[in-house]
Amino acid sequence: MYEVPVIPGDGIGPEIIREGKKVLEAAAQKHNFNIKWKELLYGAEHYLETGETLPEDALNELENHKAIYMGSVGDPRVEPGVLEKGILLKLRFYFDQYINLRPVKLLPGIDCPLKDPGEIDFIVLRENTEDFYVGIGGTAKKGKTQKQLQIERQLYNLKFDLDIESDAQEIAYQLGVISEEGTKRIIEYAFKYARKNNRQRVTGVDKANVLSDIYGFWREKMEQTSKNYPNIEHEFNYVDAATMWFVKNPEYYEVVVTPNMFGDIITDLGAMMQGGLGLAPGGNINPEGTSMFEPIHGSAPKHAGKNKVNPIATIWAGALLLEHLGETQAKKDIIEAISKVTKRGKTLTYDLGGNSTTKEVGSAIANEVKKL
Ligand code: NAD
Ligand code: IPM
Ligand code: MN
Repeated sequence: MYEVPVIPGDGIGPEIIREGKKVLEAAAQKHNFNIKWKELLYGAEHYLETGETLPEDALNELENHKAIYMGSVGDPRVEPGVLEKGILLKLRFYFDQYINLRPVKLLPGIDCPLKDPGEIDFIVLRENTEDFYVGIGGTAKKGKTQKQLQIERQLYNLKFDLDIESDAQEIAYQLGVISEEGTKRIIEYAFKYARKNNRQRVTGVDKANVLSDIYGFWREKMEQTSKNYPNIEHEFNYVDAATMWFVKNPEYYEVVVTPNMFGDIITDLGAMMQGGLGLAPGGNINPEGTSMFEPIHGSAPKHAGKNKVNPIATIWAGALLLEHLGETQAKKDIIEAISKVTKRGKTLTYDLGGNSTTKEVGSAIANEVKKL
């Protein structure tokens, strides 16, 4: 029996999570295990009622679990960033989920917006705790300003004492920080992932030609780490060129490893290459702690409650969750069931050119799982 905490969240979150649970339960039944869901209703409603995003109690409770299933957060009634930072990023940082694993795979039957795409099947491993996501910055007016900035992580604590002297009217700044430990562990994971999955090449994506302090450091750590994996090729792409190559030669990529912010951006591009945001899953992984699985898209508020969006990204994320719990065959079955449904092309949501509902797609995939 697995107890799995679920945070359906905002907007389309609850309706896509409902379908995810349906499919995971079908897989559990087939493979003789049980899932006990534990619903945690954090999100916009809870915040508007109480002013609380994710309290300490909830974090303590989640600590005892290997995997969380998450819908999406974000609501137009709440100032942008409050829920995203207060819930989603809070979970990623608090549980030190340093690997953001985002598969980019074009499933059978899916219309790819690229011409002659070939076989698209690669993985983006996005560093998930550092870079411009450390959340430190500020503004300063003309004259002298002092500011203390702090980063608290499981891996380290950092303090910056800034003395700013400026004759500009006002400035805004945001610091990006990466550490040796934080960089090496994600790059190490990328090489290990390549070795385990018979991939020949790891591509680092950065911007070392301009942001050379931070990403020059990243490259140096990647060069060092690569020495432990002589049988796996490695190379570097600048992020601007990488977006061009993704479109031009998507079949070329095998394993991509990249700092947090570029990883965020290139995985929305990756999602479009695989048919859209409704199809792109992600895992936020701490191999020794509490991980979290979610679609990479957001709460799409304009579509909320209409039973029309695509649940596949969430179902696929659920499959990754089961794999993380050790239920490898259940994961394979779910991916196969999703592929059967996309290949047949009869039960698809609007974003894939169909007119089926969220529920119909969830049920079709659950039925395929049972039939396999
Ligand atoms: P979004 O991903 O929510 O939606 C962008 C568009 O993508 C939608 O309008 C829709 O056309 C399409 N789309 C997304 N999910 C889909 C699905 N399952 N099926 C079909 N089409 C789908 O991005 P946004 O509009 O920029 O952000 C909305 C809110 O979500 C914001 O508050 C944002 O901060 C938040 N957000 C949350 C997460 C998360 O919780 N993981 C991720 C990204 C954005
Ligand atoms: C994602 C989202 C988040 C991110 C936001 C909502 C904080 O865009 O999961 O890709 O930037 O990581
Ligand atoms: Mn994103």
